[in-house]
Amino acid sequence: MSLTLLNPLDMHLHLRDGEMLANIAKESAHTFCGALIMPNLVPPVSTKEEVIAYKQRIIAAIGDETFTPYMTLFFKPSYDKAFLTSIKDEITAIKLYPAGITTNSEGGVSGFDVEELRPALEAMSELGIPLCVHGETNGFVMDREAEFVNIYEKLAHAFPKLVIIMEHITTKESVAALDRFENLYATITVHHLLITLDDVAGGMLRPHLFCKPIAKRPEDKDALLDAVLSGHPKVMFGSDSAPHPKHAKESCGCAAGVFTAPLALQILAELFDKENAALEHLQAFISGNAQRIYKLNPPAKTVRLKKQSFHVPSDYKGVVPMYAGEEIAYTIEEVNS
Ligand code: DOR
Ligand code: ZN
Repeated sequence: MSLTLLNPLDMHLHLRDGEMLANIAKESAHTFCGALIMPNLVPPVSTKEEVIAYKQRIIAAIGDETFTPYMTLFFKPSYDKAFLTSIKDEITAIKLYPAGITTNSEGGVSGFDVEELRPALEAMSELGIPLCVHGETNGFVMDREAEFVNIYEKLAHAFPKLVIIMEHITTKESVAALDRFENLYATITVHHLLITLDDVAGGMLRPHLFCKPIAKRPEDKDALLDAVLSGHPKVMFGSDSAPHPKHAKESCGCAAGVFTAPLALQILAELFDKENAALEHLQAFISGNAQRIYKLNPPAKTVRLKKQSFHVPSDYKGVVPMYAGEEIAYTIEEVNS
């Protein structure tokens, strides 16, 4: 059996910089025609010059792959309308991190006072710049995302024309919030469709499955699966593929992040096949919904997958992927652009 996917988009991708960018960019981009690139470098991408220069470094690292890096800016409450107007054409979205919640987010937002955020968010709303949010409080780790739903609701209510994307959702509470506010959307990763906390820490600790937000309960995973497999029009694929060197994962202070980009489409094909889910829903999840929500017109790329066992490499230039050394059921047959 084979299946063909058109113009796959990854709406949440970490490509890093320097040596790591050079090592993983091509493999991360190969089966996608574009991706929303996260800005959490050190220092974070927060000026027009930095966005333009980072995009150029990405394009250089990707070489001859057909791939559009859709750039993001690291949110700061101090952004004003003049600045946002000047940068609008260089970016696709702005990414908001709560301060200190995850890798390289120290310069993020604390407190979530709507009035403090109002000038920047109103300007984004007027200019049509979507806001992507890492939605976790600093509460108990299993409750962080569910607690953040109140903040999503406050923002969605205060800025009804602002497109707000709840990034990498992991809970049934976030899935339910999608249907309460017209302007709330979400990305979902491939790993959160497949694992729960049990897979991460229920037996021997598996550092390569450790990420933020942490995988949750079976009922949360089921809610995510329901949304994706039933073709929910407000969810998009965003891998949150987040490479770290092997030594930073297999360490007593394990870095958060699962590296999935080179395998994401193969794993999704297997999942949809196993669940007997409609392929048109997979096509919408990996491209159609994102094109509509973000108003994108990506370059053409066709990916043909075949139901044939693929042995996942033990590492990609020192980065250990999900399912390293294991067999998965689908393989990439051909990529055309
Ligand atoms: O697991 C994660 N890794 N979650 C994030 O939010 C950031 C990411 C990273 O940059 O490593
Ligand atoms: Zn991320």
